[in-house]
Amino acid sequence: MFESLRVPVVAAPMAGGPSTPELVTSVVRAGGFGFLAGGYLTAATLADQIHKTRELAGETFGVNLFVPGVRSLVDVTSYADRLRGEADRYGVTLGAGRWDDDGYAAKLDLVVERRVPVVSFTFGTPLAADIERLHEARVTVVVTVTTPDEAREAAAAGADVLCVQGFEAGGHRAVFTDDASTDGGGPLLGLLSAIRLIGGETDLPLVAAGGLVHGADVAAVLSAGAVAAQLGTAFLRADEAGTNGTYRAALDAGGRATAITRAFSGRPARGMENRFLRENSAGAPAAYPQLNNITKPVRAAATAAGDPEAVSLWAGQTYPLSGSGPAGEIVAQLADEAREAASAAARRFG
Ligand SMILES: Cc1cc2nc3c(=O)[nH]c(=O)nc-3n(C[C@H](O)[C@H](O)[C@H](O)COP(=O)(O)O)c2cc1C
Repeated sequence: MFESLRVPVVAAPMAGGPSTPELVTSVVRAGGFGFLAGGYLTAATLADQIHKTRELAGETFGVNLFVPGVRSLVDVTSYADRLRGEADRYGVTLGAGRWDDDGYAAKLDLVVERRVPVVSFTFGTPLAADIERLHEARVTVVVTVTTPDEAREAAAAGADVLCVQGFEAGGHRAVFTDDASTDGGGPLLGLLSAIRLIGGETDLPLVAAGGLVHGADVAAVLSAGAVAAQLGTAFLRADEAGTNGTYRAALDAGGRATAITRAFSGRPARGMENRFLRENSAGAPAAYPQLNNITKPVRAAATAAGDPEAVSLWAGQTYPLSGSGPAGEIVAQLADEAREAASAAARRFG
């Protein structure tokens, strides 16, 4: 699937609004590949999105799901107490700090039943039995990894493709084998090499993600052995993206550094720094999705008020270089830049 793309560019799944059937369709029509983001959606809403995407884009698309983790036993009440001031500021009540599995089983049944061509997973490796079910439905299975150990685990479970997510990436880290005190592996190029060097069982096609925003970045990861480049932040300001206005305005304004934080959701994720992130990152417990549920009303109220200071402004390290406009034009520009970068490198090596 990824090897035969006219343009080896993949629109990353971006849960929480940015991914839309229209964004996927424009990227596919420009020769790339696009993922819908199943995370946070009900199975019914995801079913509608799959139907719409199929009508518009045909069979060149995928769906991404969150693999539920083990229920963390960390006490989240003191963190919730810390956030009372945030709730007062935005005139809301904090959400309940409950664990949930994001409706995983129903969404897994849906993608099998609808025979979605490609299904990618983050936050974990699906059970080998579930991968078998997907294979029986002729679904290509992609597992997102952030370390060589995670690559081994995903390959052993039967993944067809690995999405290698570097430290630069925007949004949640896919990390699942490291303990809660770390954020997964390092920068993308080193990680690609480390995973390629394992060879053997893990010698699967690699899709590279994290901080890729220019065609030269796409050319670089292809040179490093990837079959395609997956870009998220580069599409956040595309016309077809569902990125809300408060978030878009913060991306447009720029001027903020990015940092990895657990403050919003309990899982490490990279976003633009704002007041909430600065004041609440230290000591935020590793309890996903409990923290995500607690902070949801605050994030929603801040978004509605146009106040970026308590919104999870997920963005990769290179977000200031991202463009805007129709997604198809973004893909076409990436392709032109990648061609130019690749031939410049080839000329340099004679
Ligand atoms: C707003 C946002 C939401 C994201 N949501 C998801 C998601 O639902 N599932 C997933 O596998 N990755 C998600 N990611 C991570 C992307 O798949 C990808 O790893 C990342 O965007 C690559 O880094 P970049 O943003 O610098 O291009 C998200 C990223 C962003 C920026």
